[in-house]
Amino acid sequence: MKFVYFEEIDSTNSYLKREYEHLDDMTLVSAGHQFAGKGRLGRKWEDDSSSLVFSILLKENLNEDRISLLPLLCGVSLLTTLEDYSIPSLIKWPNDVIIEGKKCAGILLEAVYEDEIKALIIGIGINVNTKEFPKELKSKAISLFQYSKKEYDKEEVLHRFIHHFEKFYLDYQKKKDTFLSILKECSYLDQKEITLNYYGENKHVKALGILDDGSLQVKEGDKVYSVSSGEATLEKNYEEYPNQKL
Ligand code: BTN
Repeated sequence: MKFVYFEEIDSTNSYLKREYEHLDDMTLVSAGHQFAGKGRLGRKWEDDSSSLVFSILLKENLNEDRISLLPLLCGVSLLTTLEDYSIPSLIKWPNDVIIEGKKCAGILLEAVYEDEIKALIIGIGINVNTKEFPKELKSKAISLFQYSKKEYDKEEVLHRFIHHFEKFYLDYQKKKDTFLSILKECSYLDQKEITLNYYGENKHVKALGILDDGSLQVKEGDKVYSVSSGEATLEKNYEEYPNQKL
């Protein structure tokens, strides 16, 4: 892995999109602060310097059929990192990491196409030492600091993440998806009623579980099917965390 660091940048994802041709496969770019951080579905990702923001560039051996597994692989790498700190977390399909029902990290996967796929960029934002979120995020977001009332060394969190990511990614390239068993055990949505926004259409379904290809199996009335992308919102307030491991 190669490393690039910026004290401040618009967005680590945007940087890699601009510069991917001149950078090696597996370059990781991190920043002290992003002033135009991007979230999924055109949203903004705001950070102060208390969060960890970085992106990984992948250019080699890209397998188009298996791309949608990558955010999940990153989610599991992060969950395993948090386990190192005894912080229990779950993966909310397809792209979030959840602590006590609130989001502590988000993942944004972007692809660069020029006739064919040239590069993949996986951006990750983790709420590490955030003391307080703006009002509109308070009920939805959590930081590691808020969970354990402790400050974390962002660089150490990053290096632990890389350690787990490299291991799972090496297996993934050999088509040995060792992250899948952890993913299935730690899936936040399982057995919950959700609204699934799938290509602009809202469906009320029950989430059954994540399948080997990374899709979410759901039940709508008597019909069982799986979706490969989308945005899931819980329909009820699930106060307890029965799936939570640790
Ligand atoms: C989401 O949950 O909507 C995804 C958030 C992804 C944020 C990260 S921070 C590092 C990288 N650079 C960006 O501009 N976005 C991603």
